[in-house]
Amino acid sequence: MNDVLKNIFTRRSVRKFSAKPIPEDILNDIITAGLYAPSAMNTQPWQLTVVKNEDMLVRLQKSISKALDRPDYHRFYGAPVFIIVTVPGDYRHGAVDTACVLENMFLAAHSLGVGSVWINQIRDCYDNADVRAILTEAGIPENHICFGCAAIGYADCELPADRENKGIVKFVD
Ligand SMILES: Cc1cc2nc3c(=O)[nH]c(=O)nc-3n(C[C@H](O)[C@H](O)[C@H](O)COP(=O)(O)O)c2cc1C
Repeated sequence: MNDVLKNIFTRRSVRKFSAKPIPEDILNDIITAGLYAPSAMNTQPWQLTVVKNEDMLVRLQKSISKALDRPDYHRFYGAPVFIIVTVPGDYRHGAVDTACVLENMFLAAHSLGVGSVWINQIRDCYDNADVRAILTEAGIPENHICFGCAAIGYADCELPADRENKGIVKFVD
């Protein structure tokens, strides 16, 4: 099996990260992989906001927790890096383009020995006043919305075991 396939087949979501920082060149490669994602009509509509500031991450955690009434909401599983992918709210393909960016980054991270997981909750509260205030502070345009984020860092756990693939595949010859 070639390395690309092996990387795809062995990537798993990580939900416990160590605080160990990601070296700048490795993080840049992960981000660049995101920027190389396909997008509808090559629009590349995204902004990737890379948050490493602990104070902001804790405030974001707390505001999401409050907005979604989830008292136990985690601090992005302790990840040292949190990447918020946003797109203009009036762009039709925002959700799918975001998914392409995120998957590219997840696979790049895994190939470099770095763990990752999709974080979905900002999708449900980006227009909550407290959450939006933090997004604005982070430099995210007011007309941008969020379909998904990435928590990135070194795993502080074993990778979850291989999983059953439930998707349906039909060949029509
Ligand atoms: C649209 C989407 C939203 C997700 N949201 C979350 C999330 O908020 N928190 C989380 O821990 N995992 C989240 N995940 C990760 C999935 O739970 C995970 O990909 C799935 O269980 C398969 O496991 P694997 O990634 O290890 O193969 C999300 C994945 C997708 C595609």
